[in-house]
Amino acid sequence: MAEITIKGLTFEPYISQEEIAKQVERLAAEIKRDCVTDSPIFVCVLKGAFVFASDLYRTINMPKSEIAFIRYKSYVGTESTGEMNKILGLNDNVTGREVIIIEDIVDTGLTAHALRSDIEVMNPMSVKMATLLYKPESLQVGKVPEYVGFEIPPKFIVGYGLDLDEQMRGLRDVYVLKKKD
Ligand code: IMP
Repeated sequence: MAEITIKGLTFEPYISQEEIAKQVERLAAEIKRDCVTDSPIFVCVLKGAFVFASDLYRTINMPKSEIAFIRYKSYVGTESTGEMNKILGLNDNVTGREVIIIEDIVDTGLTAHALRSDIEVMNPMSVKMATLLYKPESLQVGKVPEYVGFEIPPKFIVGYGLDLDEQMRGLRDVYVLKKKD
C-alpha cells in the first residue's frame, strides 16, 4: 500500500482490507447473536456506508432481514459543517421492527443523533448502530454506537466508502490524512 496524494493532500495506509474483514466478521457475529427477531431492518447511511454495509449485511446473512437506505450530508472537504441536510428519507416501515443503522464513521455524533431521532419517532422495537469507525474524542452529542469496528483518534480518513469531496471511496483499504512536515 503506497501513499496517495489528491487535491494537494497526502494520505497514508491506515487499516488494511484484511483487518477490516476481520472486524466485519466479528461485528456480524455480535449483531446476529443480539438480534431478538429474525427479520431486523438494516439502514445503510449513504453514501459513505455503502461498502461497509454491503460486506456486513452479506456476512450477517439473515434471509428474512431487509436493507434500506437513507442519506444525510454534513461534511464539506475535511470538516463537518455541523448542519444536517436530509437528502434521502426512509420510506420503509420500521414500526415495531428491530432497526440497525449502518454508518461508516461516527465523528461529532450529529449525524448518528439525527438519524436515531428520526427513526425513533417511527416507533421501532429498538434502534442500534453499527459503525466501522468511531472517533470517541470528537463525540459531541448522542450515544456511543453499540457496534464499533475500530476506535480511532480524531483524524481524517478516506477509503472503503469514505471520501474526500466524493473521491477515494473505492479504495479497498482505509487511509489517513498525513500531517504536513
Ligand atoms: P458526524 O455527524 O460529525 O458524526 O459525521 C458523520 C459523517 O461525516 C460520516 O457519516 C461521514 O460521511 C463524514 N465524516 C466524518 N468523519 C470523516 C472522515 O474522517 N472522513 C470522511 N468522512 C467523514
